[in-house]
Amino acid sequence: MRANASAGSKRPISSEPRGSVTVVVLAAGRGVRMKSRIPKVLHPVAGRPMLLWVMAAAHELDPERTLVITNPAQDGVQAALNGQGQTVPQVPQLGTGHALSQVATEHRAPGPVIVLYGDTPLLRGETLKALLAAHRKSAAAVTLLTANLDDPRGYGRIVRGRNGVFREIVEETDATDDQRAISEVNSGVYVFSGRELWPALLKLENKNRAGEYYLTDVVRLIKGKIETVRVDDAGEILGINDRRQLAQAERVMRQRVLDALMVGGVTITDPATTYIDADVAIGQDTVVHPFTTIGGRSVIGQECVIGPMTQVRDSTIGDRSTIERSHLEEAKVGSRVRVGPFSRLRPGTELADEVRVGTHTEIKNSKIGAGSAVPHFSYLGDAVVGANVNIGAGSITANWDGFQKNVTEIDDGAYISCDTIFVAPVRVGSDAATAADTVVTKDVPAGSLAIGRPEMRIVEGYTARRRARQKAVAKK
Ligand code: UD1
Ligand code: CA
Repeated sequence: MRANASAGSKRPISSEPRGSVTVVVLAAGRGVRMKSRIPKVLHPVAGRPMLLWVMAAAHELDPERTLVITNPAQDGVQAALNGQGQTVPQVPQLGTGHALSQVATEHRAPGPVIVLYGDTPLLRGETLKALLAAHRKSAAAVTLLTANLDDPRGYGRIVRGRNGVFREIVEETDATDDQRAISEVNSGVYVFSGRELWPALLKLENKNRAGEYYLTDVVRLIKGKIETVRVDDAGEILGINDRRQLAQAERVMRQRVLDALMVGGVTITDPATTYIDADVAIGQDTVVHPFTTIGGRSVIGQECVIGPMTQVRDSTIGDRSTIERSHLEEAKVGSRVRVGPFSRLRPGTELADEVRVGTHTEIKNSKIGAGSAVPHFSYLGDAVVGANVNIGAGSITANWDGFQKNVTEIDDGAYISCDTIFVAPVRVGSDAATAADTVVTKDVPAGSLAIGRPEMRIVEGYTARRRARQKAVAKK
């Protein structure tokens, strides 16, 4: 349902329906307290830049327009938004009120204006919906989301009169000791009536210790009723100003991600030691064992066993595969595959169904066909391996000749004995075999054997002669 569905036929000021929602996300701040070269709002929480969490929550309001106030000097923000919302530059950054005043006249609609800060990633869409509903019901000029915190340090405090009626928001730097003791804080989430907001914004001044234009002062300047709504879960309003708060948000978000997976039918043996990013998908009845990290945009099928001690990044894994004590990055793994323990699949690795890989195997930029095995202590780089190939222990592709990477091709059904070295570019035909310890420097035709090692010699009576010599030396 669209947020403006209830709008009547009367059209005030602009041509759009009265209920049309505008969202403004403030994301231009310098984020000095992060001590980072990366813009604060791009620091990831559970693998997703915090700004995108805020955008996702805002999206649930189905807004008519979403404006994101950004600092054009901060690289990457536009790219991270990837077309979500419309960016509005703020130069220089003179405070949260100044940020909001960058909104152009054409976007100053009379309907509800929801202002969010880009550094509050834990905020839920449902909370915003409830806040907007409360605002609409009370027909207030502004509705503030507040929270009671055990440790209110760093936040603006909500000052109320003796009768409990809202008086003002006081920033910590401008607060008296008594005011600092107040545990109710400003979350940084506001629903304004556009009709009241935009004229009030013109009157904003910067007479405070920081010399900034505070959005919180707009609340004082606005004409009309001021409502407050207290959030149920105070944890949602956490504002990330430094890296300790970033870690706090990470912990909360991680638990949310794990909870959602468990609700969806994934077993997580030990949530306390399991780290899964928000954009990871995992199928039903998959079990994730302790000390496992699954990140990026990984997709894992059903009935898999992942971990313990496994790291998976931006990889896909089919159904019923087992990955134990291994490290996967940008790898594609089929179904009923077994990887590990102690193997590493690097970018560009593609394992077809029913492949077996390692103990101690490294594979990079290689395709391994269905049913093939690279079971022990091998390195395959830039290899194309067919189906039902067995690669013996300790076999290695010498894919780099000092100038470029070269391809090793091993066709279907080939039997590679232990300690074979492929000096690429080289090709082993289908059903061909190599003898142990062969250095393959030439193509091996299909069905034939390559044997390339020094002939073995037998030295008879050797041990007896050696022992006699040792005895003679000991007597001296
Ligand atoms: C702000 C509130 C405070 C509230 C707290 C909640 C003000 C004056 N204070 O304080 O009452 O308790 O958030 O987390 O609003 N930004 C801009 N342009 C600027 C300055 C900031 O876009 O010129 C953006 C930042 O990127 C950030 C947000 O506004 O996403 C909040 O700014 P920040 O400096 O973190 O405000 P706080 O000091 O946390
Ligand atoms: Ca903040």
